[in-house]
Amino acid sequence: MKICFATNNPKKIEEVKAALGDSFEIVSLKDIGCSDELPETGDTLEHNAFQKARYVKEHFGLDCFADDTGLEVDALQGEPGVFSGRYAGEPRSDERNIDLLLKNLGDTSLRTARFKTVIALLLEGDEYKFEGVAEGEILTMRTGNGGFGYDSIFRPVGYTQSFAELTMEQKNQISHRGKAVAELITFLNHR
Ligand code: IMP
Repeated sequence: MKICFATNNPKKIEEVKAALGDSFEIVSLKDIGCSDELPETGDTLEHNAFQKARYVKEHFGLDCFADDTGLEVDALQGEPGVFSGRYAGEPRSDERNIDLLLKNLGDTSLRTARFKTVIALLLEGDEYKFEGVAEGEILTMRTGNGGFGYDSIFRPVGYTQSFAELTMEQKNQISHRGKAVAELITFLNHR
């Protein structure tokens, strides 16, 4: 089955392809010739995920899924949350986002946080939603070179390493997106 993953992030495509295996052909926005910045103007992850998926369906006529992810930090009352991508403003920068988050957290000992992912799937005229959460804590400094986004400052519960120190397979097994994708796969395989 061919399905578009509405993202321009090659790391995400790689993660999802690894999790989905060979039964699905995943095409990216680039593969379908879409270089548009997808709209994400909502104030919830769900709103943004559906907004992105519907944009691709409307403009390219393809069944597709889109994800939206946020990092909720307890000591910052759930920020940056839905604004995680543009936490330090435009143009988006992982490095500046991390710097701002570490600055805002300071040396507080309350460092619990979670990643949440919502995946919106548009398939054969119907809409479906899948979710995944990964609990953890924010480190005091960057650790590890893998992954992307906030990975180098997030240590998942039960691990001594940050997400950026885990292999992609290890991260996929426990991550917010890995869990949401697992739900998506179960759904696609049983329909
Ligand atoms: P988006 O949903 O792709 O727009 O992601 C929102 C923000 O969360 C961006 O700053 C991403 O870099 C970050 N992000 C998304 N997924 C992950 C992840 O798996 N690890 C670390 N950061 C992520």
